[in-house]
Amino acid sequence: MVQIRMRKLFFIYIVISTVSFIWFYSSCGFPECKEKEIEHLIKKYKARNKELDKKISDLSQQLQECQKNVLTSGRTEFSHSPTIYMVTPTHTHPEQKANLVRLSHTLLHVKNIHWIVIEDSVSKTVLVSKFLQNSGVKNTHLAALTPHEIKMKYNDPTWLKPKGVLQRNAALRWIRENLNPNTDNGVVYFADDDNTYSLEIFQEMRNTKKATVWPVGLVGGLRYEKPIVKDGKVTGWFTYWKPNRPFPMDMAGFAVNVNLFFNNPDARFSNEVPRGFLESTILEQLNVKMEDLEPRAENCSKVLVWHTRTEKTKLKNEQLMIKRQGQGSDPNIEV
Ligand code: UGA
Ligand code: MN
Repeated sequence: MVQIRMRKLFFIYIVISTVSFIWFYSSCGFPECKEKEIEHLIKKYKARNKELDKKISDLSQQLQECQKNVLTSGRTEFSHSPTIYMVTPTHTHPEQKANLVRLSHTLLHVKNIHWIVIEDSVSKTVLVSKFLQNSGVKNTHLAALTPHEIKMKYNDPTWLKPKGVLQRNAALRWIRENLNPNTDNGVVYFADDDNTYSLEIFQEMRNTKKATVWPVGLVGGLRYEKPIVKDGKVTGWFTYWKPNRPFPMDMAGFAVNVNLFFNNPDARFSNEVPRGFLESTILEQLNVKMEDLEPRAENCSKVLVWHTRTEKTKLKNEQLMIKRQGQGSDPNIEV
């Protein structure tokens, strides 16, 4: 009996082992088959990877094309629309490139703009040259140095000396020498590199017969300064600081027709004028009268440009870094 049971048990054992063996290999495959399958899968995924790499490279090429188109769209010329000649003095300081990058990104959205950038330096710097070449904005790059005696020091109070005078004059010279008053229809706007400009302000100034004016935000110790307008005419000024100036407004608050510089060939900025008189003296030399002023920005009721200032960054840890580890930041890395 015992023998028969043992046989039976053995038989059951053999059957179960065989079935398990067959089941195991049918579900997992034989080792060589498995290897082949894995090799096949690797090949398949490698091919797929290659395809995806190619797709990525094609798409990045397309993206680059699109970016180029976006950058150059600001250059599109429309013969019927006057060009805005935007005059921007700029000087070497730690925040210069940040200011220029920010401003150029605004200008990329503006049609028919010609940016005249004048460096306060003996000659054009590599930083500004490279920046302008890649900016995508139509530009003219000039340099005019402010003499040592009238040059602001980095830590001087901002009001101490007039700024951007010789640079704006260099731009006026370029305009007079390079534009044709009979064929070049345009507007001149003196736009400093640290202000904030809405896109609307460019539309507002585009059609300027003689001189357009509008409010400027965050200036003169007020939330805004602005011309006072009655029945579509400028009758006075909302300005606290030196309100008796002929035109008590900031440089960012007006634009003039380019013809004015041809009709008044001697008009230029001067370092000799009292503080806050740069705007008034240029407009007077251009023979602009109060009644000529064309109010913009919904009769001067909207702020579309802000006299912002970029905070001076404290770089005191550069020196401490040199003391601590023998060298400061790498001068070859442009900031
Ligand atoms: C204010 C007005 O907004 C300016 O239009 C005016 O020229 C200036 O006062 C002045 O009274 O001279 P503010 O913000 O005090 O401007 O001056 P900044 O923005 O520091 O300088 C005006 C422009 O001149 C800027 O585009 C700046 O880059 C340039 N600048 C400044 C130089 O070219 N050289 C310098 O040494 C300093
Ligand atoms: Mn400024």
